[in-house]
Amino acid sequence: MGLRVENIGKSFFNKGQEKIVLKNIDLNIKDGEFVTLLGPSGCGKTTLLTIIAGFQSAEEGHIYLGEKKVSKPGPDRGFVFQDYALFPWMTVGDNIVYPLKIQGVSKEKRDEKLQELLELAGLKGNENLFPHEISGGMKQRTAFVRALAGNPEVLLMDEPLGAIDFQMRNKIQRELEELWLKTKKTVVMVTHDIDEALFLSDRVIVMSREEGKILRDLRVPLKRTRDKESLEYLELKKELTELLERALRG
Ligand SMILES: Nc1ncnc2c1ncn2[C@@H]1O[C@H](COP(=O)(O)OP(=O)(O)OP(=O)(O)O)[C@@H](O)[C@H]1O
Ligand SMILES: [Mg+2]
Repeated sequence: MGLRVENIGKSFFNKGQEKIVLKNIDLNIKDGEFVTLLGPSGCGKTTLLTIIAGFQSAEEGHIYLGEKKVSKPGPDRGFVFQDYALFPWMTVGDNIVYPLKIQGVSKEKRDEKLQELLELAGLKGNENLFPHEISGGMKQRTAFVRALAGNPEVLLMDEPLGAIDFQMRNKIQRELEELWLKTKKTVVMVTHDIDEALFLSDRVIVMSREEGKILRDLRVPLKRTRDKESLEYLELKKELTELLERALRG
């Protein structure tokens, strides 16, 4: 389902001083599109993503999912938190179907859905392990399918690979792409990593630090799976690097 961000504005007050974090943010995200919000620390990426999720409200503007206006959290939007936020006292399996448990879905239905999600994430046989017993990539996949458990229309991810060390990133990026290609969900992902944005997204939205503006809405016309050594990729990477430098200046 498509997602529309319409004229979103958000400020925070700090010691009586108003700080505008987002201003006149408009975005139209098509059904099945993978869109990344890229920008320097503090530019308002998480704020925008959590407004879309309904975790906090905006002073101005609206969010539409399809034709429906949304202002509160709902099962139609799945969320992958930075650092995964898996429950350390629950097994992989219990973590994955937790959203269904709080929705009151029966044990039988939960078990059925769990098998499907374990299969999708390549986690079969690991459902009884605890988060500290699995690798970073497996944690990432657990968080991903937990967000899919309630069968959301849209998947929102805040730096989903933020905790993955550099050597593993390429591999995990490919795994994430594969998972997404299987689900075909609409995705909004936050990152400040240019390669992650370019490798995964159909569109990269570059945000600037000053007054939460959108600096550029860049389409990535490269065929998947992308070759990070190709000339077209490197050209886009150069363009994004320059844009990010501008974003840092404001
Ligand atoms: N609850 C809050 N109260 C006051 N200020 C806030 C609050 N939440 C965010 N901010 C401020 O809003 C700005 C944007 O924060 P946000 O977390 O959206 O940035 P970000 O782009 O996600 O940064 P990062 O890449 O570091 O995660 C920052 O200046 C931050 O200090
Ligand atoms: Mg953030």
